[in-house]
Amino acid sequence: MEKINKIYGIKAVISDKKANEQPSFLSESETKGVRNFHTTVEGYKATPLVSLDNLAKELGVSKVYVKDESYRFGLNAFKGLGVTYAIAKVLCEKLDVDINSVSFDYFKSPEVAEKIKDMVFVTATDGNHGRAVAWAATQLGCKSIVYMPKDSSLRRLQHIKDAGADASILDVNYDDAVRKSKEKAEEIGGYIVQDTAWEGYEKVPNWICQGYTTMAAEALDQMKLEGVIRPTHVFLQAGVGSFAGGILGYYANIFKAQLPITTIVEPEKAACIYKSALANDDKPHAVTGDLDTIMAGLACGEPNTVTWEILRDFASAYVSCPDYVAARGMRVLANPIGSDEKVVSGESGAVGLGLVSLLMEREELKELKDKLQLDENSVILCFSTEGDTDPDHYKKVVYDGKNPSIFE
Ligand SMILES: Cc1ncc(COP(=O)(O)O)c(C=O)c1O
Repeated sequence: MEKINKIYGIKAVISDKKANEQPSFLSESETKGVRNFHTTVEGYKATPLVSLDNLAKELGVSKVYVKDESYRFGLNAFKGLGVTYAIAKVLCEKLDVDINSVSFDYFKSPEVAEKIKDMVFVTATDGNHGRAVAWAATQLGCKSIVYMPKDSSLRRLQHIKDAGADASILDVNYDDAVRKSKEKAEEIGGYIVQDTAWEGYEKVPNWICQGYTTMAAEALDQMKLEGVIRPTHVFLQAGVGSFAGGILGYYANIFKAQLPITTIVEPEKAACIYKSALANDDKPHAVTGDLDTIMAGLACGEPNTVTWEILRDFASAYVSCPDYVAARGMRVLANPIGSDEKVVSGESGAVGLGLVSLLMEREELKELKDKLQLDENSVILCFSTEGDTDPDHYKKVVYDGKNPSIFE
């Protein structure tokens, strides 16, 4: 591991790990049914892969692709992919059926609905995952209970309530809210559908990760239509690391020795993956405290224990970013150059692109740019994992310039 000195608040660790075996639960054969299943969910459509050609020219790279997950299932974020697949797998186990033989509508049929109507799904969330759980549970005629950490956005809480959940904000941070949801599920005999794993709780979060592979596969298909076989660089933002681990683990299986150079990006106050990489003892390490950041979806202090190993073994770099990096990404995507398309990207969706723009534009960050081998041949893939899920804050950042720029 090599530590890069802090510049403009940006800290990085470069990996010297040689990749181990690819994670088998994210192999092509293990995940091949996932996308088929998603196509049966009402409203499924591949989200746009936006090619920002003028931005690429401006930054001096070959291509900048942004997968716009604000279009996913009308939920303004990607989380419905993990939730629909994981809940379906839970139901398949209960009903003793094979997921490859059923559609999402199967669970809504009267005879199945009768069997599952008393099920309660419980989860903790910074917003997007909980909204997806509420949305899926309601469609299936089931109940959901959703806990949010302190200082959560009231707009996000309202979205979750509107989707049908019994939702509330607790006076604890994200990781403690996860513990509360586990306790609640145990107390009422509910089903915990948490998008992070810990020792003894791996099955459901692994299904959630498998669910995320649909967007990774879609992106590759969409690039192929433009004659691009693989990106050279992928930037993945991390909260607990399930999203990043799901995508990276899948790409590790697909690309093997040709894996794109992958950078894990986190907010500085909740950089548990960066902290774990820096410790360099193979173990996940937690960050505690308020986890205060505008990137609410990434405000998680305890790594997913399964995906940590994927991030440890396959990522090339881990970067800890101050909030202005996300704000910059939101603004860059909201202000397209020339004929480039606009992408409405929220705080947790935009940080990867914000980092890319800084690496390519700021001479002071050249060391990190060079370590990542970013140059005029680079084909960069970012995932904008949410739209304006907190519209008031989005406007403050994008319209009013709230949150400092690098120059302040
Ligand atoms: C918009 C958005 N992006 C990224 C993430 C990160 O996902 P993970 O916690 O799996 O790292 C989240 C998690 O809530 C999110 O809401």
